[in-house]
Amino acid sequence: MKPEAPRAVRLKDYAPSAFLIDHVNLEFVLDPTRTRVRAKTKFRANPAVQGPPAKNLIAKSGVSPHPLRLDGEGLEIEAINLDGQPLLPSDYKLDDVSLTLLAPPDKPFTLEIATVINPESNKALQGLYRSKGIYCTQCEAQGFRRITYFLDRPDVLAKYTVRIEADLAEAATLLSNGNPQERGTIDRGKRHYAVWKDPHPKPSYLFALVGGNLSSTASTFRTKSGRDVDLRIYVEPGKEKRCGWAMDSLKRSMRWDEQRFGREYDLDVFNIVAVSDFNMGAMENKGLNIFNDRLILASPETATDDSFEAIEAVVAHEYFHNWTGNRITCRDWFQLCLKEGLTVYRDQEFSADERSRTVQRIGDVRQLKARQFAEDAGPLAHAVRPDSYVEINNFYTATVYEKGAELVRMIQTIVGNSAFRDGLDLYFKRHDGHAATVEQFIACFEDATGADLQQFAIWYSQAGTPEIVAQLSYDAKSRTASVTLEQVLPATPGEVKKKLLHIPIRLGLVGADGRDVALRMDGVNTADQSVVHLKRRQQTFKFKDVEKRPVLSVLRGFSAPVNLTINHSEAELAFLMRHDSDLYNRWHAAQDYALRVLVKAVKAVRAGAKPEKPVALIEALGAALADDQLEPAYRAQFMMLPTEADIARHIGRDIDPAAIHTAHAAVRKFQSLQLGTQLSETYERMTMRQAYSPESGQAGQRALRNVAMRLLAHRKRAEDIARAEAQFYNAKNATDEIAAFAALVATSGAVRKKALDTYFERWKDDHLMIEAWFTMQAMTTGTTTLSTVEKLMKHELFSLKNPNKARNLIGGFAGNPVNFNRPDGKGYDFVAAQVLAIDAFNPQVASRILTSFRSWRSLEAGRRKLAKAALMSIAKQKNLSRDVHEIVVKTLE
Ligand code: ARG
Ligand code: ZN
Repeated sequence: MKPEAPRAVRLKDYAPSAFLIDHVNLEFVLDPTRTRVRAKTKFRANPAVQGPPAKNLIAKSGVSPHPLRLDGEGLEIEAINLDGQPLLPSDYKLDDVSLTLLAPPDKPFTLEIATVINPESNKALQGLYRSKGIYCTQCEAQGFRRITYFLDRPDVLAKYTVRIEADLAEAATLLSNGNPQERGTIDRGKRHYAVWKDPHPKPSYLFALVGGNLSSTASTFRTKSGRDVDLRIYVEPGKEKRCGWAMDSLKRSMRWDEQRFGREYDLDVFNIVAVSDFNMGAMENKGLNIFNDRLILASPETATDDSFEAIEAVVAHEYFHNWTGNRITCRDWFQLCLKEGLTVYRDQEFSADERSRTVQRIGDVRQLKARQFAEDAGPLAHAVRPDSYVEINNFYTATVYEKGAELVRMIQTIVGNSAFRDGLDLYFKRHDGHAATVEQFIACFEDATGADLQQFAIWYSQAGTPEIVAQLSYDAKSRTASVTLEQVLPATPGEVKKKLLHIPIRLGLVGADGRDVALRMDGVNTADQSVVHLKRRQQTFKFKDVEKRPVLSVLRGFSAPVNLTINHSEAELAFLMRHDSDLYNRWHAAQDYALRVLVKAVKAVRAGAKPEKPVALIEALGAALADDQLEPAYRAQFMMLPTEADIARHIGRDIDPAAIHTAHAAVRKFQSLQLGTQLSETYERMTMRQAYSPESGQAGQRALRNVAMRLLAHRKRAEDIARAEAQFYNAKNATDEIAAFAALVATSGAVRKKALDTYFERWKDDHLMIEAWFTMQAMTTGTTTLSTVEKLMKHELFSLKNPNKARNLIGGFAGNPVNFNRPDGKGYDFVAAQVLAIDAFNPQVASRILTSFRSWRSLEAGRRKLAKAALMSIAKQKNLSRDVHEIVVKTLE
């Protein structure tokens, strides 16, 4: 049944290229279906690669001992010249994915290749394509080979000059990387051209080109050394008024990177282009970032606070790549975390500095657990630096990105903040302009700080989420508190035996008065003893001079990406919820407590009983809600129970999603009933009179108010529905509108229908606002969701070819626990069929949606069987993309 496996690429097979490229000259003549590309590339032998390969024993004079294999896919060749002479068919070999010069010269030479490509028909959205009439590119990871034949690998860095020619009427804006050089008209003004030159050598995946009729907003930024940079954001005409927040975010990012990490921008211009069809979020092409427009366009009426926050974070992320990714790039794609993990760490720090550090941390950990822990616990588990892949696009994962960021954060925790900065400075100094590896990155911290990070480095190559079992014992006679920590390393696919890790654990002891006890370990004199280093399987850390038995607060700030098991009583959890000085851990105690309650409730439901009322938990939640010392955004986080997916992950096996849903709804309802008065008061108190601003203080108030509104809506009294309706029909900003809309879509009958119709009429002309209309319907818990989604697939505003819409509807449905996991298996069948349909034109989006099946083995037997059958129906198809093939095989393994 298993389809034949495409070949895997392995880290251990890495070999440097025998040829290097100093310079490439690209000329584009844009045309919707026949774009001409002329690439003039200067090659020379790589001095680091000596002698002939083993099988090539006869050296010919004037001829390189190495053939030159260039990557190229879907290209129509018009001409190939070597140093001005046409190549003969006997000089090269051609197949679907490459062009090989059999005997290239042993001196530097120039290859000139003319090819034709079809941007209009490119629905995979890799390489050069058109989105709403705008030509744009996506080259990471391996899209450049769909533009021309090239050494499409990140360790070949070249300088680019790019000339773009087009009809003025069709593409008045012509952009590429680097600085603008020249522009002019031809054909009596009917056509025009622009020349761009990028002075910084870069790998091909950072190449970009844009052509189209776009409007822009402009601003300038003066760098710390006094250079003025022209900043511009290009969008679909008419949308330029929605670029203000992205521009503001860009400028704050540029300043922050100078101040926090000493990194200055290095070109005369920085351009951003927003397009509607984009496989991922955004791309850091040198000097020309290209974005999914949902991560640029914002106005108070059309973007929620969450969108404003995401725009700020992603604009920052792509900008920060200029140093961590572009100036220093990756030697090979196995090192992807080198740029992504580090850059996520940087954008998280930026957001923490711009907003509330604690709330940022809570949000980041929620994300990590929901996406990365789930990945690590299933068949798609892989190391932050994997050692093999079939399709690299399948490795732009939560593990590489978010766990990758946690590893950088742990280095900071281990060496300390100022030493961390020294290590990073050394990295920038030592590797600027080069393609680096994870080992080189780690060596910078060792060399700059003297720390030994060899055991820590295992985190990069070992998959799986460690479990930490923590225990406190107290000896009154010696007044000693002993903290015993054990690391348990669960097996992951292909990796049964695990090596012990170096795990930094931040902890505290909370005294009966609610205050932290000073931490003093025998024989340790450092001022800050709050971080202990777990390196063996089990270690005990003894703290002296502790008057009374304290409560242990461990893994403060989530100092390592692990699951924590600790035998706290419910009373101790409630105590930490009230007193822990580490606000992250205070929140975590609430989650931990709630998770216990929820798991108990699931057991009750499965046994046919009614869940108990968790009065004490909800009292403790109410105390936090009433605490005005805590910022509203934080209290909003506190009030949000673990999700159904969190509960499923925690239970881990024999999962019944319907029982989880019932139990979750019951506990949430107790919460809304027990805290009803307090919630409605909170709702009133958080009502704002000022004009909307996306800043985090206001956003926090709205978040708390909307959490209250939504919880009350679950209580389902007439006044609660009326509250949500009043908010929806009178909303002045998208945050309040969409929060109330979600509450109303979760009701039924006329209330729900009226909200859906009203929203549709209001927003049918706005392709971003209408995304919520599709998503909310796909996420509805009722029994008619599947047939609604099937109907929506035929809606005139829906298109499977648009990645955002496909994710809203199909991805949204696949993330709907009760409906994706329908007991009759029809949810699985539907998603499987859509994965196949999308795979025919966009493998990246298809394989991403397919990962929704990753937890199928932990389901109860009935659903497990049905999910497996759906997966098998994909696996048995012929002509699967490499992307989907790799994921389906691994998921079934
Ligand atoms: N480097 C981009 C980012 O992190 C992601 C691009 C990934 N694209 C892809 N097709 N794999 O911002
Ligand atoms: Zn990135």
